[in-house]
Amino acid sequence: MIKINENYLKLEADYLFASVASRVREFEQKNPGRELVWMGIGDVTQPLPPACIVAFHRAVAELAQRQSFRGYGPSAGYGFLREAIARHDFQARGADISADEVFVSDGAKCDSANVQELFARELRLAIPDPVYPVYLESNVMAGRTGVARDGRYEGVTYLEATPANGYVPDLPAAPVDLIYLCFPNNPTGATATREQLGNWVDWARANRALILFDAAYESYIRDPDLPHSIYEIPGAQQVAIEFRSYSKSAGFTGVRCAYTVVPAACTAYTADGAPVALRELWRRRQDTKSNGVSYPVQRAAEALYGAEGQRQVRALTDGYLANAACALDALGRLGYRCSGGSNSPYIWLQVEGDSWTFFDRLLQRHGVVCTPGAGFGRCGEHHVRLSAFSSLAHTREAMRRMAGMH
Ligand code: MLT
Repeated sequence: MIKINENYLKLEADYLFASVASRVREFEQKNPGRELVWMGIGDVTQPLPPACIVAFHRAVAELAQRQSFRGYGPSAGYGFLREAIARHDFQARGADISADEVFVSDGAKCDSANVQELFARELRLAIPDPVYPVYLESNVMAGRTGVARDGRYEGVTYLEATPANGYVPDLPAAPVDLIYLCFPNNPTGATATREQLGNWVDWARANRALILFDAAYESYIRDPDLPHSIYEIPGAQQVAIEFRSYSKSAGFTGVRCAYTVVPAACTAYTADGAPVALRELWRRRQDTKSNGVSYPVQRAAEALYGAEGQRQVRALTDGYLANAACALDALGRLGYRCSGGSNSPYIWLQVEGDSWTFFDRLLQRHGVVCTPGAGFGRCGEHHVRLSAFSSLAHTREAMRRMAGMH
């Protein structure tokens, strides 16, 4: 008899963004022709930067010629892209990361979901609340939690991010082994200072824990004092893996390209306490399970590091930040208390009542799609997330409609 992985049965409801999409679909079927304004899933709307398109076309043309054709690429990514990443994203910011510590992939979502395969099933897990659901659910699927009760899985240490701590969780009170952090944060838009990240790194070092640091939104940081990478913090290389993505910086949500940094010094331990280099385990995993990202996509990503590419990425993210600023201003005038929206494309606003009811009201009566905070965890209740990835005109229209709720 073929048996299932029963951990899947512990998962509550559908994946958050699938639940939202199905409610929206149902609404659209019942209300044909009603124009919706999308502030829900963080999916980009602006076309790819022109520098990328040129590189894409050129790479596709190379594949059309026998002399320049390429088949399988290296599973960790081509050297030209890994070198550019190490130089521009890390060394230029004083973080000593080299190309052989960079692993190119087709998404930070899949990397942050897959990385838990490297660790023991019985480790002690710390997950922020609210949280991007992928971190938690990938561990539920792997059997690292008990069942869910009242929206929380047994066996998980939840790191609460609330208005009281400015949505930056405090250090764990109990010992944990694996910690997920995301800054600028999805969903709260909160950012972590150098000092706050330094406290996490010190804590991880003192406790032989590991931090999985999701920096998918770092290109939205404008405050020069905020760190973009955890490796800007001394000592982080031993205790942190970092995820980056071109999805939100360069509009690659559909193109798919991201990377994970596993420094040579990053260490975990066998049951006997012997140190093991995580970079070698991740390389081994990727060699077996991945053939990497297509050549034209990697050339398109490389083009983002040229002068034109950098300028275009900046213009793209500035545009989304302008939407966020417009929404933040309007929401403030409507009396909402908000986090994020500067140094982040997400605005996290406190709402009265439960967040799914607010979501339904906003959709049904005003035709605006948001993401209900409860879908990100218990501490997300009484909040909703608005994303700034639509156009300025749509953002203004959403704000006009939200004003009508009052
Ligand atoms: C989000 O809306 O949280 C993101 O788009 C999800 C993702 O990047 O997978």
